[in-house]
Amino acid sequence: MAREYELKPAPADVADDLAGGTTTINRRQFLRYGFNTAAGVLTASLGMLGFAAILLPPGGGSGGDLAVQFWAKGREDEAWYGAKHLQPMTKADFVAEAAKSSTGTAGAAGVWNGVPVAVNYVEHSKYAGTPESNGKARFQFMEGYDETGKYVGHFEDLAEADPRLMPSDDLVMVFGRCTHLCCIPGWQLVSNSFTEDSWTPGGGDDGGTKMFCICHSSRFDPTALEMNTNRNRSNGATFNYAGIRRAGGPAPVGLPIIPIQLNGDVIEGITDYVDWYTYCD
Ligand code: FES
Repeated sequence: MAREYELKPAPADVADDLAGGTTTINRRQFLRYGFNTAAGVLTASLGMLGFAAILLPPGGGSGGDLAVQFWAKGREDEAWYGAKHLQPMTKADFVAEAAKSSTGTAGAAGVWNGVPVAVNYVEHSKYAGTPESNGKARFQFMEGYDETGKYVGHFEDLAEADPRLMPSDDLVMVFGRCTHLCCIPGWQLVSNSFTEDSWTPGGGDDGGTKMFCICHSSRFDPTALEMNTNRNRSNGATFNYAGIRRAGGPAPVGLPIIPIQLNGDVIEGITDYVDWYTYCD
């Protein structure tokens, strides 16, 4: 039986297309509608679309190319970057897309060095000093807590030690595998309570601009940067990391940030910060 997702009322163009105006859609519909908004993209299905065949450990990519590439396989007609599949991501791509969003944000699935990633652009430098009530997203540097609620530390503790963890040029990149069961989550803006094109401060489970894992509905806030902790799957050792906050769902902790830099306008990942990789493999 197809998995179903409860959605809040969808935008008119989507609602008209849902049989009988239902607020329940099946998995196939979810995948489709997840792409049908101006700023919406969806990476949740990447695991079924061939990533397993190219998944390599950090450093295992081809030819030392550090550029992050768009990944829109199977979604070429729906994702805003569909025509750019496997082309290098540039900041200009995100700036142009964010201009269509009421929150000033844009997100995209990508592949870097053989691993799935998601890149989010937030107009932080434009809105950081403005009232949060204006609904314009900006990065929030926050305290972090582990899955038991124990205080772990502050994002700025890590960023002070390694400034590369700070968002670069209003961009943040995260490892694209969910901390729940290592599915590949996504950013999408269908009009449910987690994903509509709105922004709420605090890193909580309201407002939109969330990355949404289709596997079991975990949500992550790419604007809420925190310190967190996770466990090396192979040896059980724990490690602290800078990540984006888990906003809700069964995922125990947030998604790890992979530092990036711009080469000209091309987004490149930085390879020598790799603890983030170890919780899945
Ligand atoms: S794998 Fe993402 S919520 Fe379960």
